[in-house]
Amino acid sequence: MHLEVCGDKFDSRELRNVLGCFGTGVTVVTTLDAVGRKVGLTANSFSSVSLDPPIVLWSLSKQSKSLEAFLHCSRFVINVLSMDQLPLSNQFSKAAEDRFAGVSTSKGLGELPVIDDCAANIECKAISSQEVGDHILFLGQIERYNYLKKDALLFCNGNYAKAVQV
Ligand SMILES: Cc1cc2nc3c(=O)[nH]c(=O)nc-3n(C[C@H](O)[C@H](O)[C@H](O)COP(=O)(O)O)c2cc1C
Repeated sequence: MHLEVCGDKFDSRELRNVLGCFGTGVTVVTTLDAVGRKVGLTANSFSSVSLDPPIVLWSLSKQSKSLEAFLHCSRFVINVLSMDQLPLSNQFSKAAEDRFAGVSTSKGLGELPVIDDCAANIECKAISSQEVGDHILFLGQIERYNYLKKDALLFCNGNYAKAVQV
């Protein structure tokens, strides 16, 4: 069915549906707060922006409890989840006393938590943040990365998915 909607005020459910047609990977973005506590949340807004210099972006809801930590951090890590890490996507998108409980991490640049066994870990220097509507857009310059040849977890139309080569 072809459905075309045009206007300046959209139904938010419909807007989520249309934007959800664009499949993405799933990341957990991590940093440390002002007192050195680990902070992290699930985010699929991650995208690459520039190769030279290597710059990436992601966006965080202004409602996020992690907002202060990310506004004041000098670095963050994009942990790209693999298929077998699907439970981590749920763990890092729900409220919990300690989201890092049971999660194996290593210390990255600036002692930041880097989640082990991800499809990729991308360590970034925070270079700018900008308020855009109900989110804050963060840009980071890649300082270091590693990746494993693991199947990445995908997210499309509100469901987790796996990539099938065509
Ligand atoms: C697949 C998936 C992708 C998500 N992507 C984002 C995102 O890009 N930005 C965001 O702010 N929240 C995103 N969320 C929601 C946050 O993970 C969720 O609201 C989390 O509880 C925020 O934690 P905080 O309030 O402790 O920061 C996503 C959730 C899921 C399940």
